[in-house]
Amino acid sequence: MQAAGELSDAWATDRQWWKSAVVYQIYPRSFADSDGDGIGDLGGISSKIDYLADLGVDVIWLSPVYPSPQDDAGYDISNYQDIEPVFGTLADFDALLGAVHDRGMKLVMDLVVNHTSDEHPWFVESKSSPVNPKRDWYWWRPGREGMHGGDPGAEPTNWRASFSGSAWQYQAESGEYYLHLFSRKQPDLNWENPEVRGAVYQMMRWWLDRGVDGFRMDVINMISKDPLLPDGHTRSGLWGDGSPHYINGPRLHEFLQEMHREVLAGRKDQLLTVGEMPGCTVEEARLFTDQARAEVDMVFQFEHVELDQGATKWEVHPLRLADLKGSLGRWQAGLADVGWNSLYWNNHDQPRAVSRFGDDGEYRVRSAKLLGTLLHLHRGTPYVYQGEELGMTNAPFAQISDFRDIESINHFAEATASGQSPEAVLAALRTMSRDNARTPVQWNDSDNAGFSTGQPWIPVNPNYHEINASAARADPESVWHHYRTLIDLRHREPAVAYGDFTMVLPEHEQIYAFTRRLDDVELLVLGNVSGRTAMADQIPYAGNWENSELLITNAPAPDPSQPRLSLLPWEARVYRRVVADR
Ligand code: GLC
Repeated sequence: MQAAGELSDAWATDRQWWKSAVVYQIYPRSFADSDGDGIGDLGGISSKIDYLADLGVDVIWLSPVYPSPQDDAGYDISNYQDIEPVFGTLADFDALLGAVHDRGMKLVMDLVVNHTSDEHPWFVESKSSPVNPKRDWYWWRPGREGMHGGDPGAEPTNWRASFSGSAWQYQAESGEYYLHLFSRKQPDLNWENPEVRGAVYQMMRWWLDRGVDGFRMDVINMISKDPLLPDGHTRSGLWGDGSPHYINGPRLHEFLQEMHREVLAGRKDQLLTVGEMPGCTVEEARLFTDQARAEVDMVFQFEHVELDQGATKWEVHPLRLADLKGSLGRWQAGLADVGWNSLYWNNHDQPRAVSRFGDDGEYRVRSAKLLGTLLHLHRGTPYVYQGEELGMTNAPFAQISDFRDIESINHFAEATASGQSPEAVLAALRTMSRDNARTPVQWNDSDNAGFSTGQPWIPVNPNYHEINASAARADPESVWHHYRTLIDLRHREPAVAYGDFTMVLPEHEQIYAFTRRLDDVELLVLGNVSGRTAMADQIPYAGNWENSELLITNAPAPDPSQPRLSLLPWEARVYRRVVADR
């Protein structure tokens, strides 16, 4: 039998450190505030480093901490090589990085280079004159032929911006428009221009020289646009979908390989790179994450977090479990021999998983543990988003003034102006708004959940009296302790990191079941993704698991008088056995 920690030869050659690692995402504004201004900061993060080390995570991914006008909460950067004063200083950053490294953890930066802030000096120069040397660092275009610049419909293309309205902003002085796929304060960089790429690579090297351990690359599959900028398909309303012309564009692989050569090659082994890629398919992900092609280590794909939506994220419907298994199962199979998956339910752009896919009422604790168990037992690198390890829930936003996120606020204005009822729009925002993920981390049951001594920039979720880190750490049955166990299991059990994956019962509407296998070790993962008891006895070879070891569960020990594979509401179990043959 294989001892834990040993790997067969076949796998040993393909054993990058990040395959057995767990990443924890920090959204600095909402994590911990050390100076009482109501906004989280680097000092706050430093004060919680031992909390993270105790949880057992290997890597911290920091959402942007660079100087920024905060139009899109830091994803609009006005200086890539400094720290936003609200968050601290470069000296604070170095202290944090040192503290992270001292505990054997790594720190990955957010790299936002599809666009800058319109207050970045590059754009300030670019907009100053059509003949400025940096004019071509961004996408400037005249209006449509025969039309008067600035008039409705004169935009160079019909593309819609992600945060509502046109993707083009008119500049009267020059009579030209600039492209912004997100807010008008986030102009898109022109990656066709080699000077732009050179400046980005130089900046990345500067951070690596400072000691950071890699990058999470924001919407990196949008950096290559079809230079002809064709119109997009229009479904309804004024604006068309330009994404076929800027997602996975013609030169994307070339740019990523160049970035790898210029920045990462030679130091790559200790680093982690993950590309955020909306609209990425499994087939494309194989290319991006094939180590032989030297692009990125893994991608964030979006398929599984769009299954409960219609044509837009605001048209929400219940998730069908079979759809979720179909999607994640396809990604597991598609990246089995080449490439690697990242695994997530949550981040700063998604509503809270327990409210969305679990039950944030009666079964909050058990369903949060189930979701964690399923995710962490897949093959891939799991990402934990701050507060997920506490089972934090969506927030009870009452009115539009409770929201802070530009996407939510713009959508409310646009949808109500087009005749939708404010109540219906608010209902969709309550379910899907990114602000659900951005309420402050609930540390304890003192004022403002211990997040800040000042007025938090966004309201604290009132359920912090019950849901908070201090209570969770004191309770061995908490979501926090369960996550700690899952993280520890990935470190200890090679089958979790390296084993192959087989979905079982793909069509079952209640049970999420799969096996993992590495050499003679096999794991069976069972989850009842519903509030009703479920029978898992249709599992092939179910009887073979009768005497196997129950590694992890989120429910009382199975009742010996009940059939062993009967699962309580939201129950999850992980069994382990050693097999001679299947
Ligand atoms: C990514 C970020 C999101 C941001 C957008 C524009 O999707 O995760 O928060 O608004 O890019 O930078």
